[in-house]
Amino acid sequence: MAAAVRIDGKAAAAAVLGRVAEEAARLVAEAGVVPGLAVVIVGEDPASQVYVASKAKRAEECGFRSFRHALPAETSEADLLALVARLNADPAVHGILVQLPLPRHISDAAVIRAIDPDKDVDGFHPVNVGRLAAGQTAEAFVPCTPAGAMIMVRDILGSDLSGLEAVVVGRSNIVGKPMAQLLLAANATVTIAHSRTKDLPAVCRRADVLVAAVGRPEMIRGDWIKPGAVVIDVGINRLPPEAGASKGRLVGDVAFDEAMTVARAVTPVPGGVGLMTVALLMGNTLRSAARAAGREPPAF
Ligand code: GUN
Repeated sequence: MAAAVRIDGKAAAAAVLGRVAEEAARLVAEAGVVPGLAVVIVGEDPASQVYVASKAKRAEECGFRSFRHALPAETSEADLLALVARLNADPAVHGILVQLPLPRHISDAAVIRAIDPDKDVDGFHPVNVGRLAAGQTAEAFVPCTPAGAMIMVRDILGSDLSGLEAVVVGRSNIVGKPMAQLLLAANATVTIAHSRTKDLPAVCRRADVLVAAVGRPEMIRGDWIKPGAVVIDVGINRLPPEAGASKGRLVGDVAFDEAMTVARAVTPVPGGVGLMTVALLMGNTLRSAARAAGREPPAF
C-alpha cells in the first residue's frame, strides 16, 4: 500500500498568512485602515502565555497592530467586562480574543457574550454560532481551528463534498460542532461521533473525511480508517516523558504511522492543523477590518 500524503500544515498556514499580509497592505494603502487585534489573557497559565505570545507575534508579521492586555489571575469579572466594553468601542481594534480558559471565578460564557459579534474573531459569540448553524458562512466569523482544518480538506478534495461521508469525532463548541457545520455546508453527509457513540471504530470506518478532535492520544487506529480517507487530526496531547527525558512527545488523536499506511492524506501532530489556527485568526481579523472599512472582506 502506497504511503499517504503527509499534509504540510506549515506550508498551508504560510499560504494563508501570505494572503493576509498582502490584503492587509492593500487595506492600509487603499483605505488607510490598519487591522488591529486585541488579545486578552487573565492569569499565568504557561500554555496560554505561549499561545498568546504567538498570536501577537503573528499579528505584527501580518502588518497588524497588536494590543496585548495581560491581567492578573485575581481580576474580577466586572473589570474584565469593562475592558471588553472599551475594546468594543475602540475603532482601532477590529478583533478581540479573550484567551480561554479563564480563571474559575469568571464566566467564559458571560465574557464571550460581551464581545461585539462583529469583533468576535474567535467565532464563539452566540450570534456567530447561529450564523454558522444557519449556513451563513460568509457572514459568520468561523472558529479558527475548524476553518483551518476545512482549508486542508478543500486543498485535497475541492470545495464540494457531495456524496462523501464525513465523521467528526468530538462534539466541542470550539471544534467538533463548527467543523460538522462546515462539512455540511460543503455538502458532505455528516456524523458527529463522541465518547458515548456505539462501535466508534465502525462509525469511523465509514468516513471519507475523518476529523479527530477528542483529546485522547492516538486513540484512532489504522484499522478504524477507510482506505483512501482524508484524516484531519485536531488533537494535541503530550505523552508522559520517556526515561531520561524531561518532556513527553506531542501526539495527536490519530495513530499517525498506522493512518499513513491506509489513508490518502493525514495531518501530522505537531506540524498540522495547529499552525492553521493562528493563521485563520489573522484571516478573521483582516476580514473584520475590511468590513469596518466598508469593503468586501476577502475569503480564505
Ligand atoms: N484557548 C485554546 N484555544 C483557544 C482559541 O482558539 N481561542 C481562545 N480564545 N482561547 C483558546
